Amino acid sequence: MILIRSVVAAFIASACALSGAAPTRVGTAACKMCHKVQFESWNASAHAKLKPVLDCEACHGPGSEYKAVKVMKDPAAAKKAGLIMPDKAQCATCHGKKKVSPMTDAMFAKVHAHKKA
Ligand code: HEC
Ligand code: HEC
Ligand code: HEC
Repeated sequence: MILIRSVVAAFIASACALSGAAPTRVGTAACKMCHKVQFESWNASAHAKLKPVLDCEACHGPGSEYKAVKVMKDPAAAKKAGLIMPDKAQCATCHGKKKVSPMTDAMFAKVHAHKKA
């Protein structure tokens, strides 16, 4: 009985972990509501003109589980809910390949142009 219960508990735990691990996209307009500055700088960038578009969630991960303000205000919780803070390796999946300019520290710092304004 104890064994069955712990198997059931393990199953529920893994089911929860799975549902938490599969966030869905909410769209750039949803991010814009709270991140207008980042939205404007992104909207003026080359990334916004790519096909397919490289939007907020293409870099930061799909937002359905982290977009709630309570989660967003807690970086650890946001990360657990799927928020990604991209590193240079993630940029290098495009930058430095084909005709895309190589990733440098200076370029990395300019990912949100408002920071350098
Ligand atoms: C309801 C408001 C709200 C929405 C919607 C929202 N955010 Fe946030 N976000 C916040 C708040 C508040 C913070 C905490 C830091 C701050 O004040 O900017 C934050 C922080 C962040 C951070 C920085 C995290 C860190 O560890 O430094 C990123 C990246 C981010 N949000 C991306 C997004 C993306 C992408 C979306 C859309 C999918 C989104 N947010 C939607 C309110 C929101
Ligand atoms: C090309 C990938 C990329 C895209 C697209 C992108 N971001 Fe970011 N974002 C980053 C990186 C990288 C950082 C961390 C920058 C740093 O460490 O200086 C960041 C940081 C942030 C932060 C933390 C505060 C700040 O200003 O640095 C917020 C909030 C944020 N992004 C929101 C957004 C939203 C909203 C969108 C869409 C409108 C978006 N990002 C699009 C890569 C991206
Ligand atoms: C899906 C491919 C792709 C990814 C991933 C990507 N970029 Fe880009 N990025 C481009 C393309 C294409 C251009 C425009 C051509 C060029 O500059 O070589 C560009 C341009 C830029 C520019 C020039 C300024 C502008 O107009 O936006 C910066 C800065 C930049 N990227 C930073 C980053 C950073 C930092 C990351 C990772 C967090 C990143 N990019 C991830 C494809 C990508």
